Amino acid sequence: MFEFLDFEEESIENKPPLPSIIQGEIEFEHVDFGYSDDNVFIQDLNMHIKPGMKVAIVGPTGAGKTTIVNLLMRFYDVLSGQIKMDGHSINDYTRESIRSSYAMVLQDSWLFKGTIKENITFNQEVDECDFYRATKAAKVDHFIQTLPHGYDTLINEDASNISQGQKQLITIARAFLSNKNILILDEATSSVDTRTEYLIQEAMEALMKKRTAFIIAHRLSTIINSDLILVMNQGQIIEQGTHTALLQNKGFYFNLYQSQFEEAEII
Ligand SMILES: Nc1ncnc2c1ncn2[C@@H]1O[C@H](COP(=O)(O)OP(=O)(O)O)[C@@H](O)[C@H]1O
Ligand SMILES: [Mg+2]
Repeated sequence: MFEFLDFEEESIENKPPLPSIIQGEIEFEHVDFGYSDDNVFIQDLNMHIKPGMKVAIVGPTGAGKTTIVNLLMRFYDVLSGQIKMDGHSINDYTRESIRSSYAMVLQDSWLFKGTIKENITFNQEVDECDFYRATKAAKVDHFIQTLPHGYDTLINEDASNISQGQKQLITIARAFLSNKNILILDEATSSVDTRTEYLIQEAMEALMKKRTAFIIAHRLSTIINSDLILVMNQGQIIEQGTHTALLQNKGFYFNLYQSQFEEAEII
């Protein structure tokens, strides 16, 4: 948090906003990037994601998974090459408009002090029908109905009065309601009970339907059905393909999968 507060203010940009109809096509063309000039650890990164694709990014800690998200959202700008959304180079448009094309569901669900409803709508006026559709789709409706104050339940400052899994479902509802065509999901690894985990997975699956989705996956079991798996190591995409194709490759992914599988068996 302090690191975040210490960041330099972003400069004001004299650029137009991104055209609002975004289908969800993403291209990386010859992208180079490093957090400092003497460590350009992403070199000549290329990928082409078609609208509606479900893309999983896997790899060990420090591989560059979060960095990809930072670049997509323009938290950092590429050193050379370009990233395009629906054919538009994202550097030509305001950061604000780029960021508002995405819905994010992150591991540390971010909730603020306010009612559950305010947390889902971000204090925006919303259509009641849309609201209930979103909460039903996010599988959070049932749990909220069992609270004495329902959607008017106040969430504490530290959100200690609801569980980790419920927080996650609330942020999924938020993503449904915002109805963006591109999603970034940082898969939850937090220990939730099996039933909640099942609900979260179902809700995530529903959310990803017909949307382009980037999933930073920790448990490989949840990404088996992705259209594309990008395997990263040290800033490079070292392998890519479907789960089946990557297993047949008997390369990095194969070994990663085997080791997780063995771990799971020991536990
Ligand atoms: N804000 C930052 N400033 C400087 N270096 C960073 C920053 N964020 C990540 N890194 C470094 O960049 C590399 C990739 O990190 P990251 O994208 O977070 O990996 P992953 O998400 O796959 O664990 C790592 O070596 C990490 O230490
Ligand atoms: Mg990361």
